[in-house]
Amino acid sequence: NTKSGDYHVADISLADFGREEMKLAEHEMPGLMNLREKYGEEKPLKGARVMGSLHMTIQTAMLIETLQALGAQIRWVSCNIYSTQDHAAAAVAATGTPVFAYKGETLEEYWAFTDRALDWGNGRGPNMIVDDGGDATLFMHLGYKAEQNPSILDRKPGSEEEEVLYNQLKKALKKDPNRFSRTAKNIRGVSEETTTGVHRLYQMRDKGELLFPAFNVNDSVTKSKFDNLYGCRHSMVDGLMRATDVMLSGKVAVVAGYGDVGKGSAQSLRGQGARVIVTEIDPICALQAAMEGFEVMPMDEASQIGDIFVTATGCCDAITERHMRRMKDMAIVCNIGHFDSEIQVAKLNKYQWTNIKPQVDKITFPNKKSIILLAQGRLMNLGCATGHPSFVMSNSFTNQVLAQMELYCNPGKYELDVYTLPKLLDEEVARLHIERLGIETDKLNKKQAKYLGIPQNGPFKPAHYRY
Ligand code: NAI
Repeated sequence: NTKSGDYHVADISLADFGREEMKLAEHEMPGLMNLREKYGEEKPLKGARVMGSLHMTIQTAMLIETLQALGAQIRWVSCNIYSTQDHAAAAVAATGTPVFAYKGETLEEYWAFTDRALDWGNGRGPNMIVDDGGDATLFMHLGYKAEQNPSILDRKPGSEEEEVLYNQLKKALKKDPNRFSRTAKNIRGVSEETTTGVHRLYQMRDKGELLFPAFNVNDSVTKSKFDNLYGCRHSMVDGLMRATDVMLSGKVAVVAGYGDVGKGSAQSLRGQGARVIVTEIDPICALQAAMEGFEVMPMDEASQIGDIFVTATGCCDAITERHMRRMKDMAIVCNIGHFDSEIQVAKLNKYQWTNIKPQVDKITFPNKKSIILLAQGRLMNLGCATGHPSFVMSNSFTNQVLAQMELYCNPGKYELDVYTLPKLLDEEVARLHIERLGIETDKLNKKQAKYLGIPQNGPFKPAHYRY
């Protein structure tokens, strides 16, 4: 590892490779490039100290440099121990930007890196956060609570991960007992990338615990209806193939959860000729799956017929130890949701593990049957492949930058609540990307606009429209 300066990456000599791939990405990220052009001179993020916790990939490197082009200072970590692309991290670190991320970090390093990225030195913290899954937000909020009541860090942790988090918070508070309240006061807001992180934010909002306003980037239409859906349609089978090289055609694939991620995953598996089964808890999504032509059944049944299992629920225990013990010999089990709790991986520790290669393990039960587990149950498209391609991430990250600008440039405008971007901006993000595809839309004339009762140039849909 290279960790000499104010950064920690796997190998700084990968920077040139990373830079070349970033140049390729410029062509595929018209939304971000447009923002650089539009706001590069004005620098609306001047004075912003943005702490980011989001998979450190080539696409994220492009997001980082867009925020910098708009005037922000950056400190960055990955939001998953396996998701970093080391050449991307190196390219960013080589420009003097503090980044703390490498593929295959330990859990201890993960939280220590988060802590370090939140520390600007001389007692200063960030004044903005970009989060993916909510771990940076959690670190701040739990740290704040522990500042008021240190005993909460002595309660029994629910998992190994939580134990490591508690230890890191104890260290942080020992070094600087008022750190969290001081930092929280200065934070103008957080913009959250994914479904799971947004879910956590609404829970905090409902309990009245939010310390700063939040933007829900996930529910911009040009995010969840594209990244979660088409992004996963691309990167889910990519992860499966890179990890296992297994023939997908003819296999029975089980997708747990038929939300946006599950829909994309099911579609791509079917595209490869797999016979796809969906499991759901929500009758609406179950009906959608059935009418799309997928079989729907409970996991108890599906677990006995599947060859490949993918969880996309954002829920814990979608696949249990009991399910895995009933699976066919050599069934492949993986998760594309945000956290590894979707599969009961901790309960597998007592069985025999054989590491096939990084992020691919064979687990053998006492009856000699085995399963193949990808990325130890962590999100497999980033653990076993390179995540979503640049074009779809350009949509997501254009929303991120717009949310950061809105929060940073309007201090005091937003309450301790969770907000989404206005539809006109959502439509603008889409417009930038259809232009790149050479697509032109029809234009409403005055008579048509009047007939529909909407402005000629949008927004074209009411907020409740579902797409
Ligand atoms: P969603 O809320 O649209 O879909 C989740 C679906 O799972 C829902 O339909 C829900 O009814 C169903 N579900 C919940 N518990 C279940 C259970 N125990 N068994 C079966 N079905 C169950 O969420 P979305 O946007 O599809 O995201 C899913 C997860 O993927 C989240 O954790 C999200 O953060 C993550 N995500 C991962 C990405 C990646 O690149 N790996 C990209 C985008 C999101």
